[in-house]
Amino acid sequence: MRILLFGLSVLTLPLFAQDLPATVRIHDDAHGVFDNDLLSPEFHRERREALRARLPAQGVAVFLTNPVRNRSNDVDYEYHQDPNFYYLSGLREPRAMLFVFKEPRMVAGSRVSELLVVQDRDPKREVWNGRSTGPTEAQALFGVEMAMGADRFKHTELPWAKGDVLFDHLPDEPNDDPHSSSDLADLWKHVHESAPNGPNDAPADLRRWMAELREVKRTEELDLMRKAISITCEAQMELMSKLEPEMTEYQTEAIVEYVFKTNGAEYEGFPSIQGGGPHSCVLHYVTNRRTLGANDLLVSDIGAEYHGYTADVTRTLPVDGKFSADQRSIYELVLAAQDAGIREVRAGNAFRAAHEAATAVIAKGLVDLGIIENEGEVKRYFMHGTSHYLGLDVHDAGTYGKLKEGNVITVEPGIYIAKDSPCDPRWWDIGVRIEDDILVTGGDPINLSGSAPRTVAAIEQLMAR
Ligand code: GLY
Ligand code: MN
Ligand code: MN
Repeated sequence: MRILLFGLSVLTLPLFAQDLPATVRIHDDAHGVFDNDLLSPEFHRERREALRARLPAQGVAVFLTNPVRNRSNDVDYEYHQDPNFYYLSGLREPRAMLFVFKEPRMVAGSRVSELLVVQDRDPKREVWNGRSTGPTEAQALFGVEMAMGADRFKHTELPWAKGDVLFDHLPDEPNDDPHSSSDLADLWKHVHESAPNGPNDAPADLRRWMAELREVKRTEELDLMRKAISITCEAQMELMSKLEPEMTEYQTEAIVEYVFKTNGAEYEGFPSIQGGGPHSCVLHYVTNRRTLGANDLLVSDIGAEYHGYTADVTRTLPVDGKFSADQRSIYELVLAAQDAGIREVRAGNAFRAAHEAATAVIAKGLVDLGIIENEGEVKRYFMHGTSHYLGLDVHDAGTYGKLKEGNVITVEPGIYIAKDSPCDPRWWDIGVRIEDDILVTGGDPINLSGSAPRTVAAIEQLMAR
């Protein structure tokens, strides 16, 4: 039996009591902000308040931006902000720091409960890299009580008090640029040299608080997730309509990523997995260089990232448009397991309930097909978990306790029978994963990626066109 999956059209209704009031979105060409659907300053301010509420007395949370990562010589990887930093501030630039104080403090003559430190604007650097935000605009853009330039911050006395507890979030060692005395390494040194107890070396509390906040998506976030997911479903459908034998895996990657970029997605949330034939059995295959044969299955596991939020949707497609009988047997089994998993995505259920339900279906099905002898061997062919939280990270922050209204999790069972597996060779090189993004509500689960066909009939019909 299939559960009822709601279409996307119902999702514009407010779903949660914690919905924010209507917010003003920023769209300001003069300041280099071109999107009018970014998270609002009110969103970030309210999220900082929610974190502040969790801090103990005299708690100070300090967040550092992601480092710039070098690709080779003078070429860096495209910058990606640390998700916690982005969630709390909206800033997408490197070399910045955010303080959230439990109690207001006097900083440079003003009483504030938060402080964002950003790099000062530098006309010479802007010739190469374009406009940066700078402290004056950061205050308005991100709704922080105080924003300060890095040069000033270095000479500002920090408002520590005896008994302060520092919780730091350090994504990675900050880059220390020998040509700058105000880069993140210098700013961080200024903080922890002056902190009364030194940096906190057990940041687990902060990690947990951020997971508690991030795992429950708010309306503004769900709007962006729906956009990322709908772009991704469109990409899967475009692939279904274009896929044919003799295409290379990288050409199928080009098809989906063209749809991402054409629809305004800034990135892929993770490298696109386009695994054909034997590569359908490699869980996180990203080489994507092989030429596809007519009888191959293609596992297409992709996610557009839109304003920071990523989708994660997998479809498994027969390259010539028609599943063979054996491919179909495995596919139908994974689909039944996914349906069983999705049915368990309900507020109050244990996070692992979907995995247990999906595993039971696959275990029994593999025995029935004679691929394993007893259900205890199921892990040989279904060797990964069924679900993870989804959001700013593809494997998003979350507590993995009971499911809560507002969680978005994947349900993605799979069966992977690599060559030389101990079963009839007719099953070899069949890898199938089906993955959808499911919203936990107060009632039935909502499949946010349900617009991409996932039954054998619907896929074959679209591919026949
Ligand atoms: N795309 C990686 C995953 O499904 O978890
Ligand atoms: Mn996933
Ligand atoms: Mn995936």
